[in-house]
Amino acid sequence: MAGISMSAQENLDLIPALLAPYKMASFSLSHRIVLAPMSRLRSYNFVAQPHAVLYYSQRTTQGGFLIGEASGVSATAQGYPNTPGVWTKEQVEAWKPVVDAVHKKGGIFFCQLWHAGRASDNCFQPDGQPPISCTDKPIRAKTHIDGVTEASFPAPRKLTTREITRVVDDFRKAARNAMEAGFDGVEIHGANGYLIDQFLKDQVNDRTDEYGGSLENRCRFPLQIVEAVADEIGADRVGIRLSPFADYNDCADSNPEALGLYMARSLNKYGVLYCHMIEPRMITQFDSRKTEDGLLRMRKAFEGTFIVAGGYGRKDGNEVVGSGGADLVAFGRLFLANPDLPRRFELNAALNEYDRNTFYTHDPVVGYTDYPFLETDN
Ligand code: PHB
Repeated sequence: MAGISMSAQENLDLIPALLAPYKMASFSLSHRIVLAPMSRLRSYNFVAQPHAVLYYSQRTTQGGFLIGEASGVSATAQGYPNTPGVWTKEQVEAWKPVVDAVHKKGGIFFCQLWHAGRASDNCFQPDGQPPISCTDKPIRAKTHIDGVTEASFPAPRKLTTREITRVVDDFRKAARNAMEAGFDGVEIHGANGYLIDQFLKDQVNDRTDEYGGSLENRCRFPLQIVEAVADEIGADRVGIRLSPFADYNDCADSNPEALGLYMARSLNKYGVLYCHMIEPRMITQFDSRKTEDGLLRMRKAFEGTFIVAGGYGRKDGNEVVGSGGADLVAFGRLFLANPDLPRRFELNAALNEYDRNTFYTHDPVVGYTDYPFLETDN
C-alpha cells in the first residue's frame, strides 16, 4: 500500500474494523461506530430539552459521528408526542446547547430531518387537520412502528402537485435552521414509512401526476428534497436514510432492490455525503429474520460513504466493515443502553441490556441518561 510502512500496516490490521479511523469527506472520524437516529420522545412541546445535553454528550467520543433523533421540518411533520422540531426559532435555540455539548467533546453531529406524512394523527396537526401524504389511503397497520404499541391511523389528505413544492421548501428551510443551530450537517429521513418513503413505495403511492407511477416519478419528490437541501447547505453535509426493503408503517414496495439501486445511483448525481440504509433482515424495527436479500449492490452503486443499520453487534459490525460491505455502522439500541459503546467494543467488554419499556417514555432520566458506564472508566 502506497505511503504506509509495513509496521503501520500491521498495526492497522490489529485494529478491529469498527475502530479504524475513517475520512468522511471533510470529517475525520476516529472510528466507525455511529449513533443511530433514535426518537426518544423527551422533547416536550416539540422543543429539544436541556436533558438532551447529557444524553447526547454521554454518547459522544472525540471524532465520533452522531445522528440526532428525527426532528420535524414543519408544523405538519410531527407524528408522535414530544419529538423535537427544527422549524421555529425557539426550536433552533433549544438545539444549540445540545450541539455545543457534542462539539465540546469532539463529536460530529448531524440533525435528522423528518416528516411523518400519514404516520401521524389529527391531534398532532395544526387545527386538528388530517395529516398529509402522497395518498389519501390510511395506514392499515394496527400498531406503531415498534410493532407493539396499538395505533389507529386516520385517513390522510393527498397533497396537490403544487403543495409538494412547498414541502420540499420546508426541508430546505429546516436544513438551514439545523446549520444555524450548529449541526455539522443533516440526514434526510427517507426511511421507515414516513412521508418520503410513502412517495417512494409503489404499494402506497397511487398518484397519477409526475410524482407517482414510474420509479423515476416516485423518486422525484425525495430527490427534489435532496437537491434543495444540498443546494442550501452543500452536498458534502447531506446524508439520507433509506429502508427500501422494510414495510414499516404499511409502506412496502414490490421491487425494493430496484428502488434502492435507483436511489443509490441518483444520489451520486448530487454528490451527497452518505447513504444510510436499513438492512433487509429487519422485519420489524426490533426483530430480524433470515433473508437472502442484502445491500451489497446498493453499496457498490453508491459513490459516497455507505452506512448500514439494523441489528448489528460487535462481531457482524466488524465483519461488514472488514469485508467492505459498509464504511460505517449505525447502532441504535446498543448505543442507547451503552453510552460508552465504542469503549466497550474496544475492550470487548460486556454490554448493558436495553429496556424496551422505557424506549419511548417521556422521563428526562429513566431509560435515557441512567444507563451505566463501564466502572473501570469512572
Ligand atoms: C423512525 O425512524 O423509525 C422513527 C422516527 C420518529 C419517531 C419514531 C420512529 O418518532
